[in-house]
Amino acid sequence: MTILAIETSCDETSVAIVRAGRILSNVVASQISLHADYGGVVPELATREHLRNLLPIARNALRSAAIEPRRIDAVAATQGPGLPNALLTGFKAGQALAFALETPFIGINHHEAHLYSPWIIRDAADFSAFQPNVSLIVSGGHTILVHVRSELDHQVLGSTIDEAAGECFDKVAKLIGLAYPGGPEVDRFAAEGNPKAHNFPRPMLREPNDDFSFAGLKTSVRYFLQKNPDLLKDAQKVRDLCASVQVAIVEVLATKTIRAAHRVGVRCITASGGVTCNRGLRQELESACRTEGFALRLAERQFCTDNAAMIAVLAERKLMNSADQTAFDAEVLPAMSLGQPAVTTP
Ligand code: KG4
Ligand code: ZN
Repeated sequence: MTILAIETSCDETSVAIVRAGRILSNVVASQISLHADYGGVVPELATREHLRNLLPIARNALRSAAIEPRRIDAVAATQGPGLPNALLTGFKAGQALAFALETPFIGINHHEAHLYSPWIIRDAADFSAFQPNVSLIVSGGHTILVHVRSELDHQVLGSTIDEAAGECFDKVAKLIGLAYPGGPEVDRFAAEGNPKAHNFPRPMLREPNDDFSFAGLKTSVRYFLQKNPDLLKDAQKVRDLCASVQVAIVEVLATKTIRAAHRVGVRCITASGGVTCNRGLRQELESACRTEGFALRLAERQFCTDNAAMIAVLAERKLMNSADQTAFDAEVLPAMSLGQPAVTTP
């Protein structure tokens, strides 16, 4: 089966072609430079940019996969969650394409696609080593812990009650005056800083649930900088500040993930989403999983951030297991939970 998938939930326009688990192409156009002046994603600009770029990117994805449109067996697009108008551009383009090609169309939940991206290795999806796992999805818009009992069977354990971890990285970076997006910048500065220089709060670390909260941590950095404005003039002190903030975020994410995995009784932990690029988080999860005896699968960096390959891979798994799915018209946008996907058949 050859799938064409579209992802336009936020500020990446992406189209991928996947056949039998192989990623034939995965074209991702990031809008980072467009939003940099505003210090965050501007929904209206993101939507216009998707509209401008989607068809050229689809053509590019088909060309680099050396696939003619009539060879496509099904079309998938991100159904939600995400920025509503940004989602609509990709979702409606996907439906139109499926209509024109007379193929089935399937709407895919963005979070659910992140869940399966750690199983994409070296441009192929390999589910042969799949194990029940606890999965951390951590990015600019979401911080979620999920129990994946078996393929396509999962339960959300907890999520952030306010801001996502990536949002905290980005907002702290803005307070410090670092470039946008701030997460990778904090990571870069933290690499040469002292994580013990300052003791920032570890929100909800001790609470007996799988939820997160990062707004308070960001606020404590704001108060700290109001009291110590001169600190920003010293490059080493900025590195120490970044390292101290990063270690607080990472400790909460890693500790709560490991605790949840022990409680639900899985032996495998996975992680994906943009913040999974963070070197501190990768190292902490690797070391904690080694100590506690968990198998760990971190999404490859190119599949951590938003991409259409993960949408295509999940769409293919769903279509292959479509026996238990009800086909219905796909006017259910945006999906805000990990529910049944929208499926249309020609
Ligand atoms: O998954 P993603 O591309 O988009 C969303 O769905 O949000 O994640 C983007 C987020 C941003 O907040 C960005 O700052 C963060 O991931 N991020 C990082 C790193 N690379 C990306 N945060 C910390 N360290 C990094 N190396
Ligand atoms: Zn995402």
